Amino acid sequence: MSILLLGGSPALPSSSSRLLLHIGDKLAVHGHQLQRVHVRDLPAQALLHAEIGDEGVQRAIRAVASAQAIVIATPVYKASYSGVLKAFLDLLPQDGLAGKVVLPIATGGTQSHMLALDYALRPVLHALAAKQVLTSIFATSQQLVWQDEEGLALAPPIAVRVAAGVDELVAALAPLGRPRAVGGAAAIGLGGHAAHGVHIANGAPVRTLQEHPYTPASQAA
Ligand SMILES: Cc1cc2nc3c(=O)[nH]c(=O)nc-3n(C[C@H](O)[C@H](O)[C@H](O)COP(=O)(O)O)c2cc1C
Repeated sequence: MSILLLGGSPALPSSSSRLLLHIGDKLAVHGHQLQRVHVRDLPAQALLHAEIGDEGVQRAIRAVASAQAIVIATPVYKASYSGVLKAFLDLLPQDGLAGKVVLPIATGGTQSHMLALDYALRPVLHALAAKQVLTSIFATSQQLVWQDEEGLALAPPIAVRVAAGVDELVAALAPLGRPRAVGGAAAIGLGGHAAHGVHIANGAPVRTLQEHPYTPASQAA
């Protein structure tokens, strides 16, 4: 099954992107094919001017269209999801998530806004006709510790939520068909093909996405 990791933070480095890639690691182990789009890598003017015909925007829209599932990550901004993510979602067709399973995740500065995914993003995902929106995952920045050597460490409650979310997504995809064998699993990373902000699986087995912390497309090989 093809799963898109959609990052919605304008920041780099990004807590929500790191959590997104961590979840991508877990999904790759199950043999799913992964693509990655970070909205911050898309052409800014095209996003702001809603230039739907822009080549980079079109690639990202096609990446959404071709995925059976989407893990969508955002920081909490002003008690909601990020504006750049909305700018991209606005460019999708009205039924742009039809037939897709979506796992929403967010990081925020405070637990006070942990429901932002559910009251702000979830209705938009349903408006875009998502087939199933799974239980969302929220972590505060303090619950995610990044170390250059070890990568991302999750606070125990978040590790539990991530494991449950991955299981839920894998189970939701199971009726749709078998994933490719893990040995041939394609995963994204610096070895993948990156064009206009869309990182596409290259068929090479990747040990872990966390070995390739998010690098903007302009810096990727
Ligand atoms: C402009 C801005 C607005 C923010 N607003 C909120 C907020 O309303 N509630 C909250 O819990 N955190 C808020 N935060 C904190 C971020 O959600 C938090 O640092 C998050 O982990 C950032 O994720 P990122 O590194 O992926 O961008 C805000 C941060 C910024 C920069």
